[in-house]
Amino acid sequence: MEFCTVGPEDLETIAIISEQHLTHGKKILEEIRHHRNLKDYFGVKAVEKGEMIGFYTCIENDIVFTLPHPEMKSLIEKMTAGEKTITGDTLYVKPAWRGKGIASELARRVTAMARERDGKYFLTEAWIHPEGVTPAKKIVVFNGEVIFEKIIPFFYRDLSKYGMECPICGKDCRCGAQVQLHRL
Ligand SMILES: CC(C)(COP(=O)(O)OP(=O)(O)OC[C@H]1O[C@@H](n2cnc3c(N)ncnc32)[C@H](O)[C@@H]1OP(=O)(O)O)[C@@H](O)C(=O)NCCC(=O)NCCS
Repeated sequence: MEFCTVGPEDLETIAIISEQHLTHGKKILEEIRHHRNLKDYFGVKAVEKGEMIGFYTCIENDIVFTLPHPEMKSLIEKMTAGEKTITGDTLYVKPAWRGKGIASELARRVTAMARERDGKYFLTEAWIHPEGVTPAKKIVVFNGEVIFEKIIPFFYRDLSKYGMECPICGKDCRCGAQVQLHRL
């Protein structure tokens, strides 16, 4: 297995996997496809025998959540004060490959890339399932020192207003989010 930089040829696969497993709906497909030229977008993938088995992608120079959260956005903007901020976008490892430290390694590598790009902050939005499990909790720790954290229940409640659905709850999403700002 090897780790490589995400290229334009990977975006369609990332878009389709994200739509199936992270957030259902056309919006996520459009958003990821929109990054085709890789301007302000980068990531790392794990590859086994030519197959992408995991990825962690990021958006550069923008504070973005899965769906609009203007108050949280303006709070983060105040804290980052115009300094370069990288937002974690999609993180996924195929089920057969989970539990082997792949996501942790993707996070370490994406964080190194964010530093090379002169990022000063890294924003993460980790999904909290309705029963309280936060799959990325132990992974986002690799995105830098946590200087702010907020746990927001029902963070995805309005997903359907934006043409999306939760892969766990459907239209009526009860998942929360752990929003963290990391210093790079
Ligand atoms: C979350 C995900 C990327 C983890 O990938 P992975 O390669 O198995 O993660 P790692 O092996 O690096 O695990 C790192 C740590 O996180 C923990 N962890 C991994 N998946 C977890 C889960 N679903 N629930 C709780 N903890 C989890 C591991 O137990 C491990 O802890 P340890 O260091 O104490 O052993 C993968 O389960 C996935 O793609 N899930 C579906 C999509 C998703 O939830 N993405 C995150 C959205 S914010």
